[in-house]
Amino acid sequence: MINKGIILAGGMGTRLSPLTKVINKQLLPLYDKPLIFYPLSVLMLSGIKNILIITNPNENNIYKKILGDGTRFGIKISYKEQAKPNGLPEAFILGKKFIGKDGVALILGDNFFYGEGFTKRLKNGLKKNKGATIFAYAVNNASNYGVVKVNNNNKVLNIVEKPKKYISNLAITGLYYFNNKVIRFAEKLKPSKRKELEITDLIKKYKRDKQLKVELIGRGGSWLDAGTIKDLFDASTFVSTVEKRQGFKIACLEEIALRNKWITKNLIIKSIKFYGNCDYSNYLKKLI
Ligand code: G1P
Repeated sequence: MINKGIILAGGMGTRLSPLTKVINKQLLPLYDKPLIFYPLSVLMLSGIKNILIITNPNENNIYKKILGDGTRFGIKISYKEQAKPNGLPEAFILGKKFIGKDGVALILGDNFFYGEGFTKRLKNGLKKNKGATIFAYAVNNASNYGVVKVNNNNKVLNIVEKPKKYISNLAITGLYYFNNKVIRFAEKLKPSKRKELEITDLIKKYKRDKQLKVELIGRGGSWLDAGTIKDLFDASTFVSTVEKRQGFKIACLEEIALRNKWITKNLIIKSIKFYGNCDYSNYLKKLI
């Protein structure tokens, strides 16, 4: 059972410049909330309460300003800085102390997941994870991502980071579950041609040991990211459409905490005061 999670919220967000010249990518608005609310909501929906956020140097104060130590959401958030964007697996080296002897979930700060039954699958995956679990999703532009090829029984045949030649349309999403071996594996990795430690190289170590599981997110699910300005805009439109139609907010952290019984109404009142007079607060008022 995994009960710790890391959110990687560093990086320069170069492709989103000029937006990212003054503000970190994961704090940009995805419609009505900072982007980081969405991956944080995924961890919370999975039942994970102990969370480490990895940020760029001198940036964790801005995250603290909005998320604090997690008390408002009934969780515990700690922070760690990554000196340089040396690749995703560095999360496990920086987070070594945080992980301790446990397994860990990693989610990228710019990834958005949505769909019926998703929470149940997340929880099941956490319970069942033995080595590593990855989540794959069919996309049009798989070559922009890590790609996995599987056979009819979902057995992994091949994994390639940003393949030049087509191998499959299944992108490896930015959500991963690992057992404690991940620290040792990450420490052994060598930088790739783009001078980064690659998450796909790490996943391949689990494949070699026959300890890799792939969960396919089907056609009823949604996985979006904020790689480019167009992606960010499209994801915002998606959230706006669903929220307007249903009257429910996606990734309202206080709502998830309340439903999980991690907080009481008193803390929601505190949040309403914190956010001030806005649409998000009005939504919180309806919850209590
Ligand atoms: C990273 C990973 C890639 C994964 C993607 C998901 O890509 O290296 O395997 O598919 O995140 O968002 P990057 O953001 O470094 O281009």
